[in-house]
Amino acid sequence: MGSRANAVVFVLWTISEFLYCNCLTILKPIDAEVIEGNNITLECKVLSANVNTIRWSEEFKGVTAFLEASGTKGPCDIPRAFQYFASFTWKYSFYCAHPVYRVTIKNIKRAEHNTEWSCFRPGDFSGPVSTIKVQVPVSSVSVSPPQDMIDIKENTAIEFTCKTSEARPKATVTWYKVKSGVTSHIDQNITSSTTNDEFSITTSTLRFVPSRQHNGVRIFCQVSNVANTSPVQSSETTFNVLLPVSSVSISPSKDTIDIKENTAIEFTCQTSEARPHATVTWYKVKSGVTSHIDQNITSSTTYDEFSITTSTLRFVPSRQHNGVRIFCQVSNVANTSPVQSSETTFNVLSAPDSPLEFRYVKDLTTTTSIHLEWKPGYNGGLPQTFHIIYVLRSSSTLHYANIDDTGEDVIEYTLTGLSEEAQYELVIYASNKIGSTSKSSILSAHTKGNETTNNSSLIGGVVGGVIGVMIIVVVVVLLIRRHNIFKVCLNRYKHDTEIEERCLDNQ
Ligand SMILES: *[C@@H]1O[C@H](CO)[C@@H](O)[C@H](O)[C@H]1NC(C)=O
Ligand SMILES: *[C@@H]1O[C@H](CO)[C@@H](O)[C@H](O)[C@H]1NC(C)=O
Ligand SMILES: *[C@@H]1O[C@H](CO)[C@@H](O)[C@H](O)[C@H]1NC(C)=O
Repeated sequence: MGSRANAVVFVLWTISEFLYCNCLTILKPIDAEVIEGNNITLECKVLSANVNTIRWSEEFKGVTAFLEASGTKGPCDIPRAFQYFASFTWKYSFYCAHPVYRVTIKNIKRAEHNTEWSCFRPGDFSGPVSTIKVQVPVSSVSVSPPQDMIDIKENTAIEFTCKTSEARPKATVTWYKVKSGVTSHIDQNITSSTTNDEFSITTSTLRFVPSRQHNGVRIFCQVSNVANTSPVQSSETTFNVLLPVSSVSISPSKDTIDIKENTAIEFTCQTSEARPHATVTWYKVKSGVTSHIDQNITSSTTYDEFSITTSTLRFVPSRQHNGVRIFCQVSNVANTSPVQSSETTFNVLSAPDSPLEFRYVKDLTTTTSIHLEWKPGYNGGLPQTFHIIYVLRSSSTLHYANIDDTGEDVIEYTLTGLSEEAQYELVIYASNKIGSTSKSSILSAHTKGNETTNNSSLIGGVVGGVIGVMIIVVVVVLLIRRHNIFKVCLNRYKHDTEIEERCLDNQ
């Protein structure tokens, strides 16, 4: 009876021990965090004095392996190893020194994460469990774009991404910028995400909008996860901030510029601040055709980080350049539109060309008027006026007529209030604000005579004839003289108005 009762008590005790505690062994540590590559030692303490064998079990990926170690003073007697323990000689080491039994697991791999270790007496089914938690420090971080130097337009957003290697616990990413040797933390415009794995990859994106002050600034990221391990730093990227030319000014800045033929004029184009240096190109547009100007250009650029380029074009327009437009164009950053200056149109001014084909039209000439016509020459780009100087052949009094250009191909003009049946000498020239042409050669023109003839007597006729001949002789002599004087004066007048006046005074 007593032995039955003892047996029942023993069974109950065994069951209660099995169900409620593994009181015979105490395992330390429970749930050990261990950095990948490190060793960890688990210690099992036996509470019963007569137990000197411990069974270690390792449950790894659903497969359980056992190993029994026994002894009272290490090294252990290890009689049986199962399955994975086959390689225990290098992977594990055991220590037996009753009541303490230890197993050291060497060179922990991330694959051993969540391995459950337990120790118990042989004959028991289980004991206290210690779960190995493997920490994986970040080993590397990649940054993209991965350039050492990045060209970026001012005020253009750029995104940098740092991606960690697999890590546990999850890594934190910190962004830094280095300006003039001073490193500072960036804490805005950062988004971060981490994969949901035990060993997770963290991706952090920095959105950066560099201004020109960021030229030369370096950025990088730094990641860390496990205390007491050095943070890992990404490579650094230096900003090469590009500043596209935003504007160009041209001077003189006029839609139209009046310029005397064959007179040099200088145009200057100046860019806004730019990086890299802007190039300035000059163009002219003639009859709708744009062509490149590549001569007589001088250019200079300031030596600043953000430089201003000045280009000067020296141009000597001929009258063929009348109506030609010029402008400059500047560019510096690839794939940005060049910037164009305003256009200036040349209004090339010159003295007019001489009128042509100056003649009188006999059919339209009357007793008191002479009908004249001529073809205007080029007006020099300005309104021109025609000047006619005429003189009765028998007189020294010069008369003047000024006629504005009408734009017709042929100008007609009638001199009126003239003497009957008289010979006139005429010259024409043209003028505008810039100057005058030389005078034409002398044109002789006659007014018509009165058609009604007098019935004169023979005597009267004879006397009249004789007197007439005498008068004609005298008049002819006078006329020849006057004509010569007139010619002289007129010739002189061609060169100098004052001389002409004097010449007339002397008459
Ligand atoms: C792990 O233990 C072995 C010896 O058993 C030793 O050589 C090695 O340095 C240890 N590793 C670490 C990270 O302490
Ligand atoms: C963050 O982005 C906004 C909008 O892009 C910008 O205005 C702000 O300056 C940025 N902050 C920093 C510190 O770059
Ligand atoms: C450049 O200037 C020189 C001297 O002023 C001139 O002879 C030449 O025609 C100019 N070239 C052009 C293309 O205008």
